[in-house]
Amino acid sequence: MQQDKWILVTGSSTGIGRAAVEALSTGGFKVYASARNPGDLESLSRLKNVVPVQLDVTDETQIASAVAFVRKQNTGLFGLLNNAGIVAAGPLMDLNINDLRTQFEVNLFGLHAVTRGFFPFLLASRGRIVMMSSDSGFFATPFVGAYCASKFALEGYSDSLRRELNGFGVDVVLIQPGRVKTPIWDKGAPFLNRFPGSMFEKTAVALGKHAIQRGKTRGLEASVLGKVIEHAFFVKKPKIRYLVSRNNFRYTLIKLLSDRRVDRMVQAEITALTK
Ligand SMILES: NC(=O)c1ccc[n+]([C@@H]2O[C@H](COP(=O)([O-])OP(=O)(O)OC[C@H]3O[C@@H](n4cnc5c(N)ncnc54)[C@H](OP(=O)(O)O)[C@@H]3O)[C@@H](O)[C@H]2O)c1
Repeated sequence: MQQDKWILVTGSSTGIGRAAVEALSTGGFKVYASARNPGDLESLSRLKNVVPVQLDVTDETQIASAVAFVRKQNTGLFGLLNNAGIVAAGPLMDLNINDLRTQFEVNLFGLHAVTRGFFPFLLASRGRIVMMSSDSGFFATPFVGAYCASKFALEGYSDSLRRELNGFGVDVVLIQPGRVKTPIWDKGAPFLNRFPGSMFEKTAVALGKHAIQRGKTRGLEASVLGKVIEHAFFVKKPKIRYLVSRNNFRYTLIKLLSDRRVDRMVQAEITALTK
């Protein structure tokens, strides 16, 4: 049992975050489940061993309030799950600088601000930071370039942080899910129609529709991720990276093949989808 171990989860309203809160709180941890909207906080408050906390990761005032709230509870904090994330999809040459900023505000800058805010608790507990990365953190696919860039950045950020904290007892672990059935796919759908007349429109829409359909029908259940996250907090010596997908072999291959070979593989998939 982990009675005295508290974990703060960002982006707990839906999907993987919600599943993580459920797995952690039934697995013996106590959870500060953070979300943006009052309705989600109310729903989270009904779970046993869960204390809801309002937190938009891009809002420094809310981060400071959340840190003060946890300090006041006097529970300490063993873990931080940086899960909140968004996808700003679209052809890179059609995305403006604000699209990229929006993407990075949540997936990297907000994550950094939250991590810094809660770091004193994690240092005191010799605790653990678990980062929600993605297969997009090592395999960059077309038309989600901003998202891939943010997850590649998160991978580098996390490796640096782990190596900086090595010796202070705070570990940094990355979860790399493939497709998971969550609302993120529906949130990405409006991007399909955002670039009418773009030279990439036909290809981007075909790939986008295919990815959304695959994600919604063949993605892993979010509860599978919940279990992996609980494991990553529970075990004494976690792995540094957990790749969680239906097809780890494809990813192993991608890592082994030359970049040119992977380019040709991706191009063949594009051709098959657009012919
Ligand atoms: N689903 C997949 O296939 C997949 C694969 C690999 C990695 N991931 C990663 O898994 C994480 C969770 O995604 P999901 O699939 O579970 O999607 P999701 O259901 O859309 O969850 C995203 C969560 O992030 C929250 N969020 C967004 N912007 C926020 C902000 N500014 N401040 C605080 N919270 C914010 C959302 O809150 P609201 O409800 O308030 O918007 C929601 O709770 C993301 O980091 C994503 O990149 C997902």
